[in-house]
Amino acid sequence: MSDETPLSSPRVRAPRGSLVVAIDGPAASGKSSTAQWVAQRLGFRHVDSGALYRAATAVALARAGEHFDEDAVLRFVGEISLRPVQNSFAPTWKGEEMEELIRAPEVTRLVSRVAQMRGVREWVDAHVREAADGCDVVVDGRDIGTVVFPDADLKVFLIADPWERARRRLTQRHGRAPTDAEIADETERLVQRDAKDATQTVQAKDAILIDTTYLTQAEQVERIVSLAGIFRGGGPADAQAPET
Ligand code: CDP
Repeated sequence: MSDETPLSSPRVRAPRGSLVVAIDGPAASGKSSTAQWVAQRLGFRHVDSGALYRAATAVALARAGEHFDEDAVLRFVGEISLRPVQNSFAPTWKGEEMEELIRAPEVTRLVSRVAQMRGVREWVDAHVREAADGCDVVVDGRDIGTVVFPDADLKVFLIADPWERARRRLTQRHGRAPTDAEIADETERLVQRDAKDATQTVQAKDAILIDTTYLTQAEQVERIVSLAGIFRGGGPADAQAPET
């Protein structure tokens, strides 16, 4: 937790006029699902920046195989758009939804390489800011509170023990309890990805750290909604119940 106390008094709103909740953290820390749920509770829109890095990687892979450079990726990303879907945004490629494509293991293996490309980072940042323009948003990623929205109204940094992150990710992926051997393999992959993403995975000085290792997802959502209560001049009581 920071030495500053951003929520002890109402903050001056950023010039853009709308509210931003930034949720950052390492791989599989539950950022996206938490952000989606928090957005629903607050009546905000959710923007998943990682989905854009994954979309850029998926299109580069499909168009050029594994041997793409930054110039190639930047040519291909012009084929990607962000489509509003309910209270969120989904990347589309030539008008087609990409959810299955961007979660493929090959994309997960290569995405950190693409995320190091400066031009790709600028492309993602521009898309995220554009999606957030004119509406209240919950944005998740790794550098949202430091680079994309350094003036965000609320910044949260989620962490969890790697073994627990791996267990959750596999349970979500396969819809069953994973074995210890499966968790050990996935933990190894997550730790490697964390190392590759370390440069951009930075906790902002004014971010609130939440360790979710021993929290249920509902509990972590509740904490963030409570922190955001100041936006409404009230508390979690005025937030709507989730639909899920
Ligand atoms: O697997 P997980 O949900 O944690 O990752 P993600 O949010 O889907 O992000 C996929 C990848 O995109 C990360 O491993 C990073 O390499 C990159 N990323 C980034 O560099 N900066 C962000 N703000 C978000 C994602």
